[in-house]
Amino acid sequence: MIRFDFSGISQALIGGHGIDPADLEALSPAIDAAHTEILERRARGEILFYDLPDQQAALDEVTTLAAHLERRFSTIVHLGIGGSSLGPRTLFTALKPPLHNLHSRPRIFFIDNVDPEELHDLFSFINPAETLFIVASKSGGTPETAAQLMLVLDLLRRTVGERLAEHLVFITDPAKGALRQLARELGVPALSIPPQIGGRFSVLTPVGLLPACLLGIDIHRLMHGARRMRPCLLEADPFKNPAYLFGAIHFLAMARGVNVCVLMPYAAALKDLADWFGQLWAESLGKKLSRTGKVVHTGQTPVKALGATDQHSQVQLYMEGPFDKIIHFITVGRMREDLTIPSLENTGESMSYLAGKSISELLMSEAHGTRAALSANGRMTTHIALESLDEETMGALLLFFEAATAFTGTLLGIDPFDQPGVELGKQLTFGRMGREGYEHMVRTSASDERLVIEI
Ligand code: PA5
Repeated sequence: MIRFDFSGISQALIGGHGIDPADLEALSPAIDAAHTEILERRARGEILFYDLPDQQAALDEVTTLAAHLERRFSTIVHLGIGGSSLGPRTLFTALKPPLHNLHSRPRIFFIDNVDPEELHDLFSFINPAETLFIVASKSGGTPETAAQLMLVLDLLRRTVGERLAEHLVFITDPAKGALRQLARELGVPALSIPPQIGGRFSVLTPVGLLPACLLGIDIHRLMHGARRMRPCLLEADPFKNPAYLFGAIHFLAMARGVNVCVLMPYAAALKDLADWFGQLWAESLGKKLSRTGKVVHTGQTPVKALGATDQHSQVQLYMEGPFDKIIHFITVGRMREDLTIPSLENTGESMSYLAGKSISELLMSEAHGTRAALSANGRMTTHIALESLDEETMGALLLFFEAATAFTGTLLGIDPFDQPGVELGKQLTFGRMGREGYEHMVRTSASDERLVIEI
């Protein structure tokens, strides 16, 4: 179903900037230790994402609620930010047609920002009486989501009045937080995110599952795909476990100054997967302190790219710039739709060679050609080849990336599940917005007038 080809990092194929497979063998003790740590944390209930595909009760709750809501709304507006938004958006883009919102119902809009122009335009466009608002926030207190929700509550009060609660679903912590409290007060149905699961690992909880189910995505097959993938993601041997091999390669590459990780799917349907992975990788691995309190300042910058589009914007840099990148190609063997390029008169030699070929063949040739050229230039690449793109493949792929991230963080000696660096910015925002208890948290970035130009 999925072929993970990591050979594009091998010194034997790309020369001095590659990794010697012997170095991977030498990493065995560290890999074993990281594996043991993951198993122990999982046994203690600290790592839960591997087990989400078995949570039948959550699946049943989602399907029951979705059945109750089905066909009542022509529009879904999804409010949330970070992990609470990227997961469901990734599933939507991957598993529904590109123009779904133009030709099918319910259409869905993901609002993951507090941009007044965007919000104004959306609120002017939708009909609240036909709209379901899904509000996803693990903490229930994220200011962006709180502000969006307050606008929506006001809009609903003015338009549907007493029926307000019928237009809302919350997805939040099972017991804590303002959203849970509000759900009780307003009588809004509220699904739970398990306390041990952080936003960026939440795609296989109701955060991803409810919107997917409402859009007609088969969430049982999604979970089945993740379940089928899981045994190999728990193998101790990295040569049998693609997540561990991915992590070990990155660990060695980072030690050699490879600070950039590019995910480049050759399928428009996977462009949001690259965005989702970017958050997972950045927020999980970008850490100042190790688990033992040592200052390490570790992490790797994720870059999302899309083939073939970014061949014409990024690839020059990947090909000839610094040797600081590892580039992961993802291809889909059997596209859900395809087109044959017609044979036309007057096209001349520079176009006629395309006639009779399929568009997918062109896309695949671009992927293979670009990767081969990068290898010839001594650049590290890998290739994840999907036979086809469907619910099962997505479930497997999402679990793979989560396991790879958790393992890489563990190997690096940091905690991949926290995000202390995001906190200070949040508290300073509370301070500026006058939240009680945060009055002392008002700080403005200093500016050096010599470096400021006003025109
Ligand atoms: O991965 C994470 O933990 C974050 O990106 C959160 O998802 C994001 O900050 C939103 O938080 P919350 O879901 O609590 O509103």
